[in-house]
Amino acid sequence: MERNNVTYDRRKTKNKALLKWLDKMVEMCGPKKVRWCDGSDKEWKQLCDLMVEQGSMIRLDEKKRPNSFLVRSDPRDVARVEGRTFICSFGKDEAGPTNNWEDPRKMRARLKKLFKGCMEGRVMYVIPFCMGPLGSPLSQFGIQVTDSPYVVLNLRIMTRMGKQVLDQMGEKDFFVPCLHSVGFPLSKGTKDVPWPCDPENTHIVHFPEQRTIVSYGSGYGGNALLGKKCLALRIASCMARDNDWMAEHMLILGVESPEGEKTYVAGAFPSACGKTNMAMLIPPQSMKGWKVSTVGDDIAWLKPDESGALRAINPEAGFFGVAPGTSWETNPNAMESMKANTLFTNVALTPDGDVWWEGLTPKPPDGLIDWRGEEWSAGSDAPAAHPNARFTAPASQCPTIDPDWENPDGVPVSAFIFGGRRMSDIPLVYQSFNWNHGVYLGATLASETTAAAEGALGNLRRDPMAMLPFCGYNMGDYFRHWIKMGKQLVEKPRVFHVNWFRKDSHGNFLWPGFCENMRVLRWIFERSIGRGRAHEVSLGWVPRKEDLDWSGLDFSAEQWEELMSIDPESLRMQTLRHEELFLQLSEFLPKEMLFERELLVSRL
Ligand code: GTP
Ligand code: SPV
Ligand code: MN
Repeated sequence: MERNNVTYDRRKTKNKALLKWLDKMVEMCGPKKVRWCDGSDKEWKQLCDLMVEQGSMIRLDEKKRPNSFLVRSDPRDVARVEGRTFICSFGKDEAGPTNNWEDPRKMRARLKKLFKGCMEGRVMYVIPFCMGPLGSPLSQFGIQVTDSPYVVLNLRIMTRMGKQVLDQMGEKDFFVPCLHSVGFPLSKGTKDVPWPCDPENTHIVHFPEQRTIVSYGSGYGGNALLGKKCLALRIASCMARDNDWMAEHMLILGVESPEGEKTYVAGAFPSACGKTNMAMLIPPQSMKGWKVSTVGDDIAWLKPDESGALRAINPEAGFFGVAPGTSWETNPNAMESMKANTLFTNVALTPDGDVWWEGLTPKPPDGLIDWRGEEWSAGSDAPAAHPNARFTAPASQCPTIDPDWENPDGVPVSAFIFGGRRMSDIPLVYQSFNWNHGVYLGATLASETTAAAEGALGNLRRDPMAMLPFCGYNMGDYFRHWIKMGKQLVEKPRVFHVNWFRKDSHGNFLWPGFCENMRVLRWIFERSIGRGRAHEVSLGWVPRKEDLDWSGLDFSAEQWEELMSIDPESLRMQTLRHEELFLQLSEFLPKEMLFERELLVSRL
């Protein structure tokens, strides 16, 4: 068929809705060519070669890092942009006060202008992908159209992608249309650049009622890999609300005791607060026989089964993890996962064709080229790798990947953990008294700010359930949905709050963290299967020092006291700060949240 002088193979699918949508996209974007992505090795090689040839990607040393590449982004396009992310529901109240809203008709008109001819001189890639294991009743199909080969390569790692998805989708199945352009048309005379983008006009737009996504101007991470935050969280949270399941910004891990009892835990931590580390935790050797396995490090979809127990799948197939701070000391499983077949974005390049970032080794190697492509030396003020530099690696390469990580029925979840970066006030761990109190813990979650959030670093930002940037509808209704899910569950997961980041008066971490978090995880495990001991304090249930496993770790009673101390005065002040968010949501807030606050205040 002829559109805008561009033909494409319409025999690839019999799905009429898909063909109709593609026709419209081709017509509007005006690419020079349309290419269906099949997910094959051949396609991977071709696109890698193409990007290397164009100067957009650097092939790393084949011995040190087989089939792996470095990409440097435009310095103006390095993270998600929350200020330019929109939820365009029919009414403003459906998006709620914590989301950017714009009238969908106005937004469509604005986008139409931006997309008109935006792929001129470029190839339009059509990427059929599936979030969740192929064949799982919990999975969702998406089709991303993009002019970025970098996006194609990333989605090949991060999702199930290609021909078999298109075949499974068939003629009738519903899919989420995802339109993406970097917004850099190659009009006559325009020279291409290594990382095309249009930062001034970036828009990440969701139409929740139509379940569609449109993204313009950025090629980075969650802005551009539309299956991830856009589909698997913002759109999926709306689907989940309507169909009694949950789409959460959570890692999923398995815990197994020396006796072979096993359960799964899901943990919500805001961006860059340690989900990847925790998902890949290796228990200290002294805790003999304890095992942790990895199901996912960023997103969980959870649904009650017929018996009323909650089961979870990881909708992704890879890790898009923060590189800085990752090392053989802090996260050996992540290091193993990225040994080959990995894309690195905005890390530093070593003279022997390998990668480096802050925290990888105590001393940087000589002769580094930094993430901007310039010579770098240890004395430099700026870091060699961007703080939000990432690796994209297949989950199957993780040594601790759980045997059930692709189980179409998911894994049973018996505990939820909420955690953020909190330098002061909040103790290492506590358990909620019940489900609704647990929802309150999640709703009042806060963390010191990171790279993706706008605003100064180190500010305390409220981030309910770590979903503030990712909830596709009104946050008040989202709390209500959590409460409702609790009523539906026969077997409710126990809910915990953790804080690995508390500091002493000299600014040192009070808790060693990383693999030592296993001691807390063991207590959580035991509590969720109805064993472990705890006593009641104002915040919830907490362990005494003797309730944790201390084998192989010297930790004094005084250190424990400081780590777990609760100062009613500062916590009363904290509770006042919960009001910032609660006031913003006041007209939408479920009454249960107000009851919980009253109960907390009276306990304090
Ligand atoms: P997104 O991918 O952005 O959603 O983030 P994430 O939650 O997966 O973040 P990630 O695991 O990459 O967070 C990494 C940061 O957390 C690094 O700065 C780590 O050093 C730090 N971190 C992880 N675990 C611990 C811990 O137990 N203690 C301390 N102090 N820092 C930790
Ligand atoms: C996050 O910011 O929570 C991420 C990275 O996981 S991105 O996919 O870019 O959103
Ligand atoms: Mn994330």
